Amino acid sequence: MAKFLSCVAAVLSVSFFQVEAQCPDYSQYSQQLNPPLSAGEYKLAYQRPPLACRTFNSSAVEDTITRFQSNIFPNALDTAVKWKGFAADNAAEELTFLITGDINAMWLRDSANQMQSYLPLIKADSSYNSLASLYRGPPTESGLCPSQNQAQSDNFMPPISTGIAFECKYELDSLAAFLEISTNYYEATGDIDFLNKFNWIQAVNAILNITEALLIGTYAANGSVNAVPYTWQRQTSSATGPLDNSGRENPVQGGTGLVRSAFRLSDDSTIYQLFIPANMMFSRYLDSASKIMQTISGNRSLANHMHNFPQSINTAIDTYGIIQNPVYGNIYAFEPANRMDDANIPSLLSAPFFGYLDTTDAVYQNIRNVGGPHAGLGQAWRMASIIRIFTSSDEAEIKAQLKEIGINSFDQTKWSRQWFSWANGLFGQCILDLKDRLPGCWRRAISRALVG
Ligand SMILES: *[C@@H]1O[C@H](CO)[C@@H](O)[C@H](O)[C@H]1NC(C)=O
Ligand SMILES: *[C@@H]1O[C@H](CO)[C@@H](O)[C@H](O)[C@H]1NC(C)=O
Ligand SMILES: *[C@@H]1O[C@H](CO)[C@@H](O)[C@H](O)[C@H]1NC(C)=O
Ligand SMILES: *[C@@H]1O[C@H](CO)[C@@H](O)[C@H](O)[C@H]1NC(C)=O
Repeated sequence: MAKFLSCVAAVLSVSFFQVEAQCPDYSQYSQQLNPPLSAGEYKLAYQRPPLACRTFNSSAVEDTITRFQSNIFPNALDTAVKWKGFAADNAAEELTFLITGDINAMWLRDSANQMQSYLPLIKADSSYNSLASLYRGPPTESGLCPSQNQAQSDNFMPPISTGIAFECKYELDSLAAFLEISTNYYEATGDIDFLNKFNWIQAVNAILNITEALLIGTYAANGSVNAVPYTWQRQTSSATGPLDNSGRENPVQGGTGLVRSAFRLSDDSTIYQLFIPANMMFSRYLDSASKIMQTISGNRSLANHMHNFPQSINTAIDTYGIIQNPVYGNIYAFEPANRMDDANIPSLLSAPFFGYLDTTDAVYQNIRNVGGPHAGLGQAWRMASIIRIFTSSDEAEIKAQLKEIGINSFDQTKWSRQWFSWANGLFGQCILDLKDRLPGCWRRAISRALVG
């Protein structure tokens, strides 16, 4: 696809915009009481823009709607086809810029679903004015002025120009939406030629690349912090925007087979990134798109991969995505929580310390050695180390925790909270308790340090 055209030049050269210039702004127009009102009790306004101002005409849609539906069903066609044209470097490549409505941006998920409404009406049709043509590609060629969704720029990695992307929230369901619209188009039209002609295979490869990279957990098996392929930060007063831990969000277990998603379908951030509904959708449409790949390129290995990956996601959903609820029994979790704790008291780890249960409690034993996100990834929190000593009789564990107190797991020159009096007192109490409870261990682990 061609580079982003200069905004002003492009607007002047596209006659479509000159027509639009005389048309009412739909966000204003839709709030007026436009005649003719409906004959029934409610006297509903007529919400469709004047004929000349509609952004796309479809006889298939006109033939389908009743008066009642006319205000709603054709709305995306009437108002949201902001631009339609061809790729700058290939006159055969049809492109459409379909906005959400009140926001002048095209979202992968929204546009796929906007077109999904017309799915029963599309059929194979190569003409420029067909409903099918609207399924055939998103552009940078539109010349629409680049804009962003917020006052201040977001801080994210990898960087992408706001001249191309309106907002860089990574949502797994957006990638699934691309596979959805591909499947819908192919199943309705059988038009394998279109899917083979342009960059569809490359797009699928890019989707596989990023989703496979996001199978990764926060920590490697040895406890070091993994590099993540995506981080995102925003300055905002809303809790649903920023991702904690410098744009990485709460720790996520690796090796589950679930793909991480930093955001939900609402664009709110996830709390636990192994987001089940998007994994379900991604699995379903990757599998259906594998049938296109089978037909398209004769690339069996890629098609098989697209078929097998969803099977492993489904197994992961069954394994990690179903939780037991005391009222409803087994339910699908929205974002299954990791085993997680916090670092202070009362943490789960400290339950025996404050006398709720005994260290022999089997459920308690299953959540020992679980970290919390507060101190930053890879940082041991000294009170958690102290509580582990309090609640353990295992000399090796005690010695290891004595070494770790308050410092970075892999770098002893980094520690947190230089002056933290509660922790200092607690540590003293812990040493006295150890001396009393396990005198041999205390002697071997501590006394040399104390005396020496
Ligand atoms: C739709 O049809 C009307 C009436 O023929 C015309 O004025 C208008 O320009 C058409 N819109 C598009 C986007 O082709
Ligand atoms: C994704 O692509 C990048 C760059 O081409 C490559 O370095 C990386 O290994 C790929 N990752 C996967 C999971 O295929
Ligand atoms: C821990 O494992 C990761 C991934 O396997 C590796 O890259 C890293 O070097 C290891 N770190 C240490 C400190 O052993
Ligand atoms: C099939 O797809 C894979 C993955 O994209 C690629 O590495 C391979 O070269 C392709 N093979 C053929 C024959 O196109």
